[in-house]
Amino acid sequence: MNGFFAKLVLLAALPLAAQAGTCSRFDAKNSTAYDPAAKKITLPWRTDYPASIPSHPAYSWESISFKTSWRRYTDAVLKDVRDSGINIDSAGKIRMPAGSPWWIAPWMDYGSNGRERINGLTKERSPDPLDLSPTSPGGFDVWAIGWYNSEGAVGLGKVFADPCDPVLPARDAAGLKFPDKTVSFKMLFSNATGLDYLDGAPTVLAKIDKNSRAKRLKLLQVDIAIRDPDADETDWVMGTFIWKGPARGDGFLDNLVPVGLMWGNDPNVHDATWGAWAPIKQSRINKDLAGVLWQGAPGSWLHRPFPGFQGRLNGPADNMRSSCLSCHALAQWPRNPTLGIVPIYPVGPNGPQPPLSEADIEKNVSDYFRNTRGGDLVDPTFPARPLDYSMQLEAGLTRMCQACKEGKLTGPTPKLCAEAPTRYRVTAPACDLPLLRRVFMNRIEDDPPRQ
Ligand code: HEC
Repeated sequence: MNGFFAKLVLLAALPLAAQAGTCSRFDAKNSTAYDPAAKKITLPWRTDYPASIPSHPAYSWESISFKTSWRRYTDAVLKDVRDSGINIDSAGKIRMPAGSPWWIAPWMDYGSNGRERINGLTKERSPDPLDLSPTSPGGFDVWAIGWYNSEGAVGLGKVFADPCDPVLPARDAAGLKFPDKTVSFKMLFSNATGLDYLDGAPTVLAKIDKNSRAKRLKLLQVDIAIRDPDADETDWVMGTFIWKGPARGDGFLDNLVPVGLMWGNDPNVHDATWGAWAPIKQSRINKDLAGVLWQGAPGSWLHRPFPGFQGRLNGPADNMRSSCLSCHALAQWPRNPTLGIVPIYPVGPNGPQPPLSEADIEKNVSDYFRNTRGGDLVDPTFPARPLDYSMQLEAGLTRMCQACKEGKLTGPTPKLCAEAPTRYRVTAPACDLPLLRRVFMNRIEDDPPRQ
Protein backbone atom coordinates (compact mmCIF):
# COMPACT_ATOMS: atom_id res chain seq x y z
CA MET A 1 0.00 0.00 0.00
CA ASN A 2 1.46 3.40 -0.85
CA GLY A 3 1.84 6.11 1.76
CA PHE A 4 -1.23 8.06 0.75
CA PHE A 5 -3.57 5.11 1.04
CA ALA A 6 -2.00 3.97 4.28
CA LYS A 7 -2.75 7.40 5.74
CA LEU A 8 -6.27 7.32 4.41
CA VAL A 9 -6.93 3.92 5.97
CA LEU A 10 -5.44 5.14 9.24
CA LEU A 11 -7.63 8.26 9.26
CA ALA A 12 -10.74 6.25 8.47
CA ALA A 13 -9.94 3.88 11.30
CA LEU A 14 -9.33 6.60 13.87
CA PRO A 15 -12.85 7.44 15.07
CA LEU A 16 -13.54 3.77 15.74
CA ALA A 17 -10.30 3.01 17.49
CA ALA A 18 -11.41 2.96 21.12
CA GLN A 19 -8.82 2.19 23.77
CA ALA A 20 -8.63 -1.54 24.51
CA GLY A 21 -11.24 -2.46 27.09
CA THR A 22 -13.44 0.58 26.43
CA CYS A 23 -16.63 0.68 24.37
CA SER A 24 -16.40 2.11 20.85
CA ARG A 25 -20.11 3.09 20.91
CA PHE A 26 -19.40 5.64 23.65
CA ASP A 27 -17.93 8.83 22.19
CA ALA A 28 -14.93 9.90 24.27
CA LYS A 29 -16.32 13.46 24.22
CA ASN A 30 -19.03 12.29 26.63
CA SER A 31 -16.47 10.94 29.08
CA THR A 32 -15.82 13.05 32.18
CA ALA A 33 -12.13 12.29 31.60
CA TYR A 34 -12.17 13.92 28.13
CA ASP A 35 -9.55 16.64 27.84
CA PRO A 36 -10.88 19.34 25.48
CA ALA A 37 -7.43 20.84 24.89
CA ALA A 38 -5.90 17.50 23.86
CA LYS A 39 -9.20 16.47 22.19
CA LYS A 40 -8.96 13.03 23.78
CA ILE A 41 -8.74 11.17 27.06
CA THR A 42 -5.14 11.41 28.20
CA LEU A 43 -5.30 9.25 31.35
CA PRO A 44 -2.41 6.78 31.26
CA TRP A 45 -4.22 3.95 33.09
CA ARG A 46 -4.43 0.48 31.63
CA THR A 47 -7.69 -1.11 30.50
CA ASP A 48 -6.07 -3.79 28.29
CA TYR A 49 -7.28 -6.62 30.51
CA PRO A 50 -5.30 -9.83 29.94
CA ALA A 51 -7.15 -13.04 29.03
CA SER A 52 -5.05 -15.13 31.40
CA ILE A 53 -2.90 -14.38 34.41
CA PRO A 54 0.63 -13.55 33.25
CA SER A 55 3.35 -15.36 35.18
CA HIS A 56 4.85 -13.17 37.88
CA PRO A 57 6.92 -13.62 41.03
CA ALA A 58 5.03 -14.58 44.21
CA TYR A 59 3.47 -11.62 45.96
CA SER A 60 5.25 -10.49 49.11
CA TRP A 61 2.19 -11.11 51.30
CA GLU A 62 1.55 -14.68 50.14
CA SER A 63 3.80 -16.30 52.71
CA ILE A 64 2.57 -14.20 55.66
CA SER A 65 -0.37 -15.07 57.90
CA PHE A 66 -2.66 -12.05 58.26
CA LYS A 67 -4.13 -13.46 61.46
CA THR A 68 -0.85 -13.71 63.34
CA SER A 69 1.17 -10.96 61.64
CA TRP A 70 -1.26 -8.35 60.37
CA ARG A 71 1.32 -5.57 60.30
CA ARG A 72 3.84 -7.55 58.28
CA TYR A 73 1.05 -8.55 55.94
CA THR A 74 -0.18 -4.97 55.33
CA ASP A 75 3.42 -3.79 54.87
CA ALA A 76 4.04 -6.56 52.33
CA VAL A 77 1.01 -5.53 50.27
CA LEU A 78 2.20 -1.95 50.34
CA LYS A 79 5.71 -3.04 49.35
CA ASP A 80 4.35 -4.63 46.15
CA VAL A 81 2.52 -1.39 45.37
CA ARG A 82 5.64 0.66 46.01
CA ASP A 83 7.88 -1.70 44.01
CA SER A 84 5.76 -1.14 40.95
CA GLY A 85 7.17 2.38 40.88
CA ILE A 86 4.05 4.45 41.48
CA ASN A 87 4.75 8.09 42.23
CA ILE A 88 3.32 11.59 42.21
CA ASP A 89 5.23 14.14 40.14
CA SER A 90 5.65 17.82 40.98
CA ALA A 91 2.81 18.74 38.62
CA GLY A 92 0.46 16.68 40.77
CA LYS A 93 0.12 13.79 38.36
CA ILE A 94 0.14 10.19 39.52
CA ARG A 95 2.73 8.24 37.51
CA MET A 96 3.44 4.57 37.00
CA PRO A 97 6.11 3.12 34.72
CA ALA A 98 4.55 2.02 31.41
CA GLY A 99 3.45 -1.59 31.56
CA SER A 100 3.04 -1.65 35.37
CA PRO A 101 0.79 -4.52 36.38
CA TRP A 102 -2.14 -2.37 37.57
CA TRP A 103 -5.42 -1.79 35.72
CA ILE A 104 -8.40 0.48 36.36
CA ALA A 105 -12.04 -0.57 36.18
CA PRO A 106 -14.00 0.54 33.09
CA TRP A 107 -17.04 2.77 32.79
CA MET A 108 -16.31 4.98 35.78
CA ASP A 109 -15.84 8.05 33.57
CA TYR A 110 -19.42 9.12 33.15
CA GLY A 111 -21.90 11.24 35.12
CA SER A 112 -21.43 14.04 37.58
CA ASN A 113 -19.05 12.03 39.82
CA GLY A 114 -17.18 10.36 36.97
CA ARG A 115 -13.39 10.23 36.63
CA GLU A 116 -11.86 13.67 36.37
CA ARG A 117 -9.45 14.22 33.53
CA ILE A 118 -6.09 14.83 35.23
CA ASN A 119 -5.65 11.71 37.33
CA GLY A 120 -8.88 9.78 36.83
CA LEU A 121 -10.24 10.34 40.34
CA THR A 122 -13.91 9.73 41.15
CA LYS A 123 -15.89 11.44 43.88
CA GLU A 124 -16.45 9.62 47.12
CA ARG A 125 -18.63 10.21 50.14
CA SER A 126 -18.02 13.65 51.67
CA PRO A 127 -17.10 13.11 55.32
CA ASP A 128 -19.55 14.44 57.93
CA PRO A 129 -18.49 17.23 60.29
CA LEU A 130 -16.21 15.78 63.04
CA ASP A 131 -15.50 12.58 61.07
CA LEU A 132 -11.89 13.41 60.21
CA SER A 133 -10.81 15.06 63.45
CA PRO A 134 -12.42 16.35 66.68
CA THR A 135 -12.73 19.78 65.05
CA SER A 136 -13.10 19.13 61.33
CA PRO A 137 -16.07 20.86 59.75
CA GLY A 138 -18.04 19.17 56.99
CA GLY A 139 -18.18 20.31 53.40
CA PHE A 140 -14.89 18.81 52.22
CA ASP A 141 -14.59 16.50 49.27
CA VAL A 142 -12.86 13.15 48.94
CA TRP A 143 -11.77 11.90 45.51
CA ALA A 144 -10.14 8.54 44.84
CA ILE A 145 -8.72 6.15 42.31
CA GLY A 146 -8.22 2.40 42.63
CA TRP A 147 -6.39 -0.21 40.57
CA TYR A 148 -6.50 -4.00 40.28
CA ASN A 149 -3.50 -6.30 39.80
CA SER A 150 -3.24 -8.82 36.94
CA GLU A 151 -5.52 -11.37 38.66
CA GLY A 152 -8.12 -8.64 39.15
CA ALA A 153 -7.67 -7.46 35.58
CA VAL A 154 -8.38 -10.99 34.31
CA GLY A 155 -11.59 -10.89 36.38
CA LEU A 156 -12.58 -7.53 34.89
CA GLY A 157 -11.67 -8.73 31.39
CA LYS A 158 -14.08 -11.67 31.68
CA VAL A 159 -16.96 -9.38 32.58
CA PHE A 160 -16.04 -6.82 29.92
CA ALA A 161 -14.93 -9.17 27.12
CA ASP A 162 -17.34 -6.99 25.12
CA PRO A 163 -16.88 -3.57 26.75
CA CYS A 164 -20.24 -2.43 25.30
CA ASP A 165 -22.12 -5.45 26.65
CA PRO A 166 -20.66 -6.86 29.86
CA VAL A 167 -21.75 -10.25 31.17
CA LEU A 168 -22.12 -11.73 34.65
CA PRO A 169 -22.78 -15.37 35.54
CA ALA A 170 -26.51 -16.23 35.34
CA ARG A 171 -28.55 -15.75 38.49
CA ASP A 172 -28.98 -19.46 39.04
CA ALA A 173 -25.27 -20.18 38.45
CA ALA A 174 -22.38 -19.74 40.87
CA GLY A 175 -21.73 -16.03 41.41
CA LEU A 176 -18.91 -14.01 39.92
CA LYS A 177 -15.52 -14.61 41.53
CA PHE A 178 -12.30 -12.79 40.90
CA PRO A 179 -9.29 -15.12 40.74
CA ASP A 180 -7.51 -15.86 44.02
CA LYS A 181 -4.70 -13.39 44.77
CA THR A 182 -6.61 -10.53 43.22
CA VAL A 183 -5.32 -7.35 44.86
CA SER A 184 -6.77 -3.88 44.60
CA PHE A 185 -5.47 -0.68 46.11
CA LYS A 186 -7.08 2.69 46.19
CA MET A 187 -5.75 6.13 47.07
CA LEU A 188 -8.08 8.70 48.58
CA PHE A 189 -7.36 12.43 48.40
CA SER A 190 -9.12 15.34 50.06
CA ASN A 191 -9.26 19.10 50.13
CA ALA A 192 -9.90 18.96 53.90
CA THR A 193 -7.86 21.54 55.79
CA GLY A 194 -6.85 21.78 59.45
CA LEU A 195 -5.93 18.10 59.86
CA ASP A 196 -2.61 17.92 61.75
CA TYR A 197 -1.84 14.43 60.51
CA LEU A 198 -1.88 15.65 56.91
CA ASP A 199 0.85 18.25 57.48
CA GLY A 200 3.19 17.97 54.49
CA ALA A 201 1.11 15.31 52.74
CA PRO A 202 1.76 14.86 49.01
CA THR A 203 -0.83 16.43 46.75
CA VAL A 204 -2.36 15.68 43.39
CA LEU A 205 -4.00 18.06 40.98
CA ALA A 206 -7.62 17.29 40.20
CA LYS A 207 -10.19 18.87 37.94
CA ILE A 208 -13.04 18.31 40.37
CA ASP A 209 -15.20 21.19 39.28
CA LYS A 210 -16.14 21.88 35.69
CA ASN A 211 -16.34 25.59 36.20
CA SER A 212 -13.17 26.34 38.10
CA ARG A 213 -9.47 25.63 37.90
CA ALA A 214 -7.95 22.30 38.91
CA LYS A 215 -7.40 21.99 42.66
CA ARG A 216 -4.74 20.39 44.84
CA LEU A 217 -5.93 17.52 47.03
CA LYS A 218 -3.92 15.87 49.81
CA LEU A 219 -3.31 12.14 50.12
CA LEU A 220 -5.46 11.05 53.08
CA GLN A 221 -5.93 7.30 52.98
CA VAL A 222 -4.77 4.22 51.06
CA ASP A 223 -7.02 1.14 51.00
CA ILE A 224 -6.05 -2.40 50.10
CA ALA A 225 -8.18 -5.45 49.31
CA ILE A 226 -6.75 -8.93 48.82
CA ARG A 227 -8.58 -12.07 47.70
CA ASP A 228 -6.63 -14.35 49.99
CA PRO A 229 -7.37 -18.11 50.03
CA ASP A 230 -6.79 -18.05 53.82
CA ALA A 231 -9.77 -15.73 54.37
CA ASP A 232 -12.16 -18.64 54.72
CA GLU A 233 -15.24 -16.74 55.90
CA THR A 234 -15.34 -13.85 53.41
CA ASP A 235 -12.58 -14.61 50.85
CA TRP A 236 -11.31 -11.04 51.25
CA VAL A 237 -8.84 -9.27 53.52
CA MET A 238 -9.09 -5.50 53.64
CA GLY A 239 -6.78 -2.97 55.20
CA THR A 240 -6.12 0.71 55.25
CA PHE A 241 -3.38 3.27 55.90
CA ILE A 242 -3.38 6.98 56.56
CA TRP A 243 -0.76 9.45 55.55
CA LYS A 244 0.68 10.81 58.80
CA GLY A 245 3.06 13.75 58.94
CA PRO A 246 5.59 15.17 59.41
CA ALA A 247 7.10 13.91 56.15
CA ARG A 248 9.73 11.20 56.71
CA GLY A 249 11.23 10.55 53.31
CA ASP A 250 11.02 11.44 49.68
CA GLY A 251 8.85 8.49 48.74
CA PHE A 252 5.24 9.57 48.92
CA LEU A 253 4.26 6.25 50.50
CA ASP A 254 6.91 6.48 53.26
CA ASN A 255 4.54 8.18 55.66
CA LEU A 256 1.73 5.68 55.41
CA VAL A 257 0.76 4.28 58.81
CA PRO A 258 -1.47 1.19 58.96
CA VAL A 259 -4.85 1.82 60.55
CA GLY A 260 -5.79 -1.84 60.59
CA LEU A 261 -6.71 -5.01 58.74
CA MET A 262 -9.89 -7.12 58.70
CA TRP A 263 -10.93 -10.48 57.31
CA GLY A 264 -14.39 -10.82 58.83
CA ASN A 265 -17.24 -8.76 60.26
CA ASP A 266 -17.49 -10.52 63.66
CA PRO A 267 -21.11 -11.52 63.05
CA ASN A 268 -23.45 -10.86 65.99
CA VAL A 269 -20.72 -9.31 68.12
CA HIS A 270 -22.07 -6.10 69.60
CA ASP A 271 -22.16 -3.92 72.69
CA ALA A 272 -25.46 -2.67 74.11
CA THR A 273 -24.14 0.91 73.99
CA TRP A 274 -23.95 2.35 70.49
CA GLY A 275 -20.66 4.20 71.01
CA ALA A 276 -18.75 1.35 72.74
CA TRP A 277 -16.17 -1.07 71.34
CA ALA A 278 -17.41 -4.65 71.16
CA PRO A 279 -14.97 -7.57 71.63
CA ILE A 280 -14.00 -7.68 67.95
CA LYS A 281 -11.71 -10.51 66.78
CA GLN A 282 -11.66 -10.31 62.99
CA SER A 283 -10.35 -6.75 62.74
CA ARG A 284 -6.93 -5.61 63.94
CA ILE A 285 -6.69 -1.93 64.77
CA ASN A 286 -3.57 0.19 65.31
CA LYS A 287 -4.35 1.58 68.76
CA ASP A 288 -1.63 4.25 68.38
CA LEU A 289 -4.09 6.15 66.22
CA ALA A 290 -6.63 6.62 69.04
CA GLY A 291 -7.00 10.36 69.48
CA VAL A 292 -5.89 10.92 65.88
CA LEU A 293 -8.57 9.11 63.89
CA TRP A 294 -11.11 8.33 66.62
CA GLN A 295 -11.75 8.97 70.30
CA GLY A 296 -8.67 9.08 72.52
CA ALA A 297 -9.41 10.02 76.12
CA PRO A 298 -12.80 8.78 77.36
CA GLY A 299 -15.45 11.45 76.96
CA SER A 300 -13.55 13.22 74.18
CA TRP A 301 -14.55 13.24 70.50
CA LEU A 302 -17.97 11.71 71.21
CA HIS A 303 -18.84 11.97 67.56
CA ARG A 304 -16.34 9.34 66.49
CA PRO A 305 -15.89 6.62 69.11
CA PHE A 306 -14.31 4.13 66.72
CA PRO A 307 -12.94 3.72 63.16
CA GLY A 308 -15.72 1.36 62.01
CA PHE A 309 -18.78 0.10 63.86
CA GLN A 310 -17.96 -0.84 67.46
CA GLY A 311 -14.27 -1.40 66.68
CA ARG A 312 -14.41 -2.98 63.24
CA LEU A 313 -12.10 -1.51 60.62
CA ASN A 314 -12.87 1.55 58.56
CA GLY A 315 -10.74 4.48 57.44
CA PRO A 316 -11.18 8.12 58.45
CA ALA A 317 -12.95 8.90 55.16
CA ASP A 318 -15.42 6.06 55.70
CA ASN A 319 -18.72 5.90 57.46
CA MET A 320 -18.12 4.68 61.02
CA ARG A 321 -21.51 2.92 61.05
CA SER A 322 -20.11 0.35 58.63
CA SER A 323 -16.87 -1.53 57.99
CA CYS A 324 -14.80 -2.15 54.87
CA LEU A 325 -16.14 -5.68 54.46
CA SER A 326 -19.75 -4.96 55.40
CA CYS A 327 -20.07 -2.32 52.71
CA HIS A 328 -18.14 -4.22 50.02
CA ALA A 329 -20.04 -7.48 50.63
CA LEU A 330 -23.09 -5.61 49.31
CA ALA A 331 -21.60 -5.08 45.85
CA GLN A 332 -24.25 -6.70 43.66
CA TRP A 333 -26.41 -6.15 40.60
CA PRO A 334 -28.91 -4.74 41.26
CA ARG A 335 -28.73 -3.44 44.80
CA ASN A 336 -31.22 -4.69 47.34
CA PRO A 337 -33.49 -1.73 48.17
CA THR A 338 -34.05 -2.84 51.76
CA LEU A 339 -30.36 -3.30 52.53
CA GLY A 340 -28.76 0.06 51.75
CA ILE A 341 -25.04 0.59 51.54
CA VAL A 342 -24.86 1.61 55.23
CA PRO A 343 -27.44 1.43 57.99
CA ILE A 344 -29.40 4.64 58.34
CA TYR A 345 -29.88 5.88 61.87
CA PRO A 346 -32.00 8.55 63.46
CA VAL A 347 -29.80 11.38 64.70
CA GLY A 348 -29.81 11.64 68.49
CA PRO A 349 -28.93 14.50 70.81
CA ASN A 350 -25.24 13.44 70.79
CA GLY A 351 -24.83 13.97 67.09
CA PRO A 352 -24.65 10.72 65.19
CA GLN A 353 -24.81 8.51 68.30
CA PRO A 354 -28.43 7.53 67.96
CA PRO A 355 -30.72 6.70 70.85
CA LEU A 356 -31.02 3.03 69.90
CA SER A 357 -32.09 0.18 72.12
CA GLU A 358 -29.92 -2.91 72.38
CA ALA A 359 -32.45 -4.76 70.23
CA ASP A 360 -32.02 -2.17 67.47
CA ILE A 361 -28.24 -2.48 67.64
CA GLU A 362 -28.48 -6.26 67.57
CA LYS A 363 -30.73 -6.12 64.52
CA ASN A 364 -28.39 -3.73 62.76
CA VAL A 365 -25.40 -5.97 63.47
CA SER A 366 -27.19 -9.09 62.29
CA ASP A 367 -28.33 -7.35 59.07
CA TYR A 368 -25.06 -5.70 58.14
CA PHE A 369 -22.18 -7.47 59.82
CA ARG A 370 -22.55 -10.94 58.34
CA ASN A 371 -19.72 -12.94 56.88
CA THR A 372 -20.50 -13.50 53.22
CA ARG A 373 -18.27 -15.49 50.88
CA GLY A 374 -17.14 -13.77 47.71
CA GLY A 375 -19.54 -14.91 44.98
CA ASP A 376 -22.50 -15.08 47.41
CA LEU A 377 -25.18 -12.51 48.19
CA VAL A 378 -25.47 -10.97 51.66
CA ASP A 379 -29.24 -11.45 51.39
CA PRO A 380 -29.90 -14.38 49.05
CA THR A 381 -33.68 -13.85 49.28
CA PHE A 382 -33.39 -10.80 47.00
CA PRO A 383 -32.79 -11.77 43.36
CA ALA A 384 -29.50 -10.24 42.23
CA ARG A 385 -26.07 -11.20 41.01
CA PRO A 386 -23.16 -10.84 43.44
CA LEU A 387 -20.13 -8.82 42.32
CA ASP A 388 -17.54 -10.42 44.63
CA TYR A 389 -16.96 -7.32 46.77
CA SER A 390 -16.13 -5.11 43.79
CA MET A 391 -17.80 -1.76 44.27
CA GLN A 392 -16.05 -0.36 41.21
CA LEU A 393 -17.77 -2.99 39.14
CA GLU A 394 -21.11 -1.90 40.56
CA ALA A 395 -20.29 1.79 40.04
CA GLY A 396 -19.12 1.12 36.46
CA LEU A 397 -22.21 -0.89 35.50
CA THR A 398 -24.44 1.78 37.02
CA ARG A 399 -22.77 4.51 35.01
CA MET A 400 -22.84 2.48 31.81
CA CYS A 401 -26.62 2.09 32.12
CA GLN A 402 -26.95 5.78 32.92
CA ALA A 403 -25.00 6.58 29.73
CA CYS A 404 -27.33 4.27 27.78
CA LYS A 405 -30.43 5.82 29.31
CA GLU A 406 -29.15 9.28 28.40
CA GLY A 407 -28.33 8.24 24.84
CA LYS A 408 -24.60 8.84 25.30
CA LEU A 409 -23.90 5.16 24.81
CA THR A 410 -25.50 4.40 21.44
CA GLY A 411 -26.72 1.22 19.80
CA PRO A 412 -28.07 -1.95 21.42
CA THR A 413 -28.83 -1.72 25.15
CA PRO A 414 -26.31 -3.67 27.23
CA LYS A 415 -28.20 -6.74 28.48
CA LEU A 416 -27.38 -6.08 32.13
CA CYS A 417 -29.20 -2.72 31.96
CA ALA A 418 -32.54 -4.53 31.93
CA GLU A 419 -31.71 -5.47 35.54
CA ALA A 420 -30.15 -2.18 36.59
CA PRO A 421 -31.34 -0.41 39.75
CA THR A 422 -34.73 1.15 38.88
CA ARG A 423 -33.64 4.64 37.93
CA TYR A 424 -30.91 3.41 35.60
CA ARG A 425 -32.91 0.53 34.13
CA VAL A 426 -33.27 0.38 30.34
CA THR A 427 -35.74 -2.09 28.91
CA ALA A 428 -35.84 -0.64 25.39
CA PRO A 429 -33.77 -2.63 22.88
CA ALA A 430 -31.59 0.40 22.04
CA CYS A 431 -30.02 3.14 24.15
CA ASP A 432 -31.74 6.47 23.72
CA LEU A 433 -32.85 9.57 25.54
CA PRO A 434 -36.65 9.87 25.25
CA LEU A 435 -37.75 13.01 23.41
CA LEU A 436 -39.48 14.54 26.42
CA ARG A 437 -36.45 14.17 28.60
CA ARG A 438 -34.24 15.44 25.81
CA VAL A 439 -36.20 18.68 25.82
CA PHE A 440 -36.68 19.25 29.53
CA MET A 441 -33.86 17.51 31.29
CA ASN A 442 -31.00 15.48 29.98
CA ARG A 443 -29.50 14.04 33.08
CA ILE A 444 -30.53 11.53 35.71
CA GLU A 445 -29.80 12.90 39.13
CA ASP A 446 -26.52 11.18 39.71
CA ASP A 447 -26.13 8.71 42.51
CA PRO A 448 -23.91 5.72 41.82
CA PRO A 449 -23.00 3.73 44.94
CA ARG A 450 -20.64 5.66 47.14
CA GLN A 451 -18.94 5.14 50.40
C1 HEC B 1 -19.99 2.43 52.89
C2 HEC B 1 -19.33 1.81 51.78
C3 HEC B 1 -17.82 1.59 51.75
C4 HEC B 1 -16.98 1.38 52.81
C5 HEC B 1 -17.27 1.42 54.27
C6 HEC B 1 -15.68 1.13 52.22
N1 HEC B 1 -15.75 1.16 50.87
FE1 HEC B 1 -14.27 0.68 49.56
N2 HEC B 1 -15.42 1.30 48.03
C7 HEC B 1 -16.73 1.71 48.12
C8 HEC B 1 -17.21 2.12 46.82
C9 HEC B 1 -18.60 2.63 46.50
C10 HEC B 1 -16.13 1.94 45.94
C11 HEC B 1 -16.13 2.19 44.43
C12 HEC B 1 -16.10 3.61 44.08
C13 HEC B 1 -14.74 4.16 43.97
O1 HEC B 1 -13.73 3.44 43.93
O2 HEC B 1 -14.66 5.37 43.89
C14 HEC B 1 -15.03 1.40 46.72
C15 HEC B 1 -13.80 1.01 46.18
C16 HEC B 1 -12.81 0.36 46.90
C17 HEC B 1 -11.65 -0.28 46.33
C18 HEC B 1 -11.37 -0.44 44.85
C19 HEC B 1 -11.79 -1.83 44.43
C20 HEC B 1 -13.26 -2.14 44.59
O3 HEC B 1 -13.61 -3.04 45.37
O4 HEC B 1 -14.10 -1.49 43.98
C21 HEC B 1 -10.91 -0.75 47.38
C22 HEC B 1 -9.60 -1.51 47.31
C23 HEC B 1 -11.62 -0.41 48.60
N3 HEC B 1 -12.78 0.26 48.27
C24 HEC B 1 -11.17 -0.75 49.87
C25 HEC B 1 -11.85 -0.37 51.03
C26 HEC B 1 -11.30 -0.53 52.36
C27 HEC B 1 -9.97 -1.15 52.69
C28 HEC B 1 -12.23 -0.02 53.23
C29 HEC B 1 -12.13 0.13 54.71
C30 HEC B 1 -10.98 0.79 55.22
C31 HEC B 1 -13.37 0.41 52.43
N4 HEC B 1 -13.10 0.18 51.11
C32 HEC B 1 -14.53 0.90 52.97
C33 HEC B 1 -17.51 1.68 49.24
C34 HEC B 1 -17.03 1.47 50.53
